[in-house]
Amino acid sequence: MSEDKLITTHQALIPTLPSPDADPAVLQVWGGSSLQGHVKISGAKNSALVLITAALLCSEDCRLRNVPSLVDVTRIGQILVSLGVKLKQQDDILNINASTISKSKAPYELVSQLRASFFAIGPLLARLGSACVPLPGGCTIGARPVALHVRGLQLMGADVQIEHGMVNAHVRGNRGRLQGAKIYLDYPSVGATETLMMAATLAQGETIIENAAQEPEVVDLANFCNSMGAKIRGAGTNTIVISGVSRLHSTDYSIIPDRVEAATFLVAGAITYSEISMSPVVPEHLTAAIAKLQDIGVQVVTEGSDCLRVIPSHNLVATDIETLPYPGFPTDMQAQFMALLALSEGNSLVSETVFENRLRHVPELNRMGADIRVKNNHAIIRGVPLLTGAPVVATDLRASAALVLAGLAAQGKTTIQGLHHLDRGYENLEAKFLGLGAKLERVPQSVAIANDAFSPINSDALISS
Ligand code: EPZ
Repeated sequence: MSEDKLITTHQALIPTLPSPDADPAVLQVWGGSSLQGHVKISGAKNSALVLITAALLCSEDCRLRNVPSLVDVTRIGQILVSLGVKLKQQDDILNINASTISKSKAPYELVSQLRASFFAIGPLLARLGSACVPLPGGCTIGARPVALHVRGLQLMGADVQIEHGMVNAHVRGNRGRLQGAKIYLDYPSVGATETLMMAATLAQGETIIENAAQEPEVVDLANFCNSMGAKIRGAGTNTIVISGVSRLHSTDYSIIPDRVEAATFLVAGAITYSEISMSPVVPEHLTAAIAKLQDIGVQVVTEGSDCLRVIPSHNLVATDIETLPYPGFPTDMQAQFMALLALSEGNSLVSETVFENRLRHVPELNRMGADIRVKNNHAIIRGVPLLTGAPVVATDLRASAALVLAGLAAQGKTTIQGLHHLDRGYENLEAKFLGLGAKLERVPQSVAIANDAFSPINSDALISS
């Protein structure tokens, strides 16, 4: 059992973060092996990030369990420590004490590396009556505006100014306390729902969020806040009602399993024609993914309450996918399923409706022999009998997972650059795949070059492609 690690300065967290590397690691994947066995699914990244942020609402001890060890989680921890929060980490348990928040301004250099940290504007404003958070820039998958967050906070009585790339918000009057409000979201944004739900938790009166996001991570956040004494009803539906309370109390809460990681392993079983199982999962969270796998010809069975088993099929059949807000098909699983459809018999159409620039894995899959054409936010996939290993570049988190899956199915070796994307959202992915019998290895780029005439692809050149 490792010692409690008291983290008082954000420097204390830096050793765990990868620094820009002159010899970045690449992942070499040898395809063609079938997988077997069982894999443990980690806590959900997209829950951990917002639940750690929500701990800012509470002036007592909060214990979070099942916290995945990820670059993004370390980053949100750094941001909280920079605001004066005390963190104590022990394996996958994080003890958070936000009794003394000394600052309401989150440092640019930290926030700029993690979009989700913008959500901190909600709890900071609710707790301190003021918040100053950098405007998160766009990212490789889209412009990612935050207008819905800002408008909701304005309806709750916050004065919000955006200057010099910073969002300055403070509550006018009412002793700096937000007011309950009726908020209709033009789009069921996950982040806006979470930011406003957190802000409303300590507001005066009742807040109603209509056309709210219904993702399991939103429900996990509401359950976490309610475990601290908040009064949130309706999370998981499109209407959430929050009755503000004056303060929250300590809690000990366990984060839900990561449904996106689980879906990635479901596809790993399907694309390598392997029978594997995984737990813990919440099967209902994967309804859309399991339904699509069944359309493709792959059976997924539930064993007990929290375990899934993939029953592979050698006749993968084309199908169409349209990404939508939950309970529709998740955009975070789109790239992984595209790798599978690349090897499915017939033509598939994948339409990405949530993010405007989330098909950047297509040229990389085509480099491996896939036959995919893109028109606006649609990808037309003609299934091919096999993929061949190649040097490829990961362009974002889920694209990197798709390339690992394609590499596991391909003939020969695939070398993946851009692993900083993968490390943001997958805990010990290589170790988990090695445990299932896959052949892959993370090596410094220089070693890959020395080994086999691998010449790194200039990712900047990719951008223009
Ligand atoms: C969350 O991002 C997740 N991130 C994303 O996961 C996920 O893809 C996304 O929800 C959708 O499910 C985290 O939870 C940390 P949104 P978020 O606000 O909250 C537009 C991954 O791979 N929009 O629901 O930023 C926006 O531009 C990541 O793990 C506005 O127009 O997503 C986008 O097109 C990637 N105005 C759409 O809504 C706003 O004010 C969905 O965004 C806010 C959003």
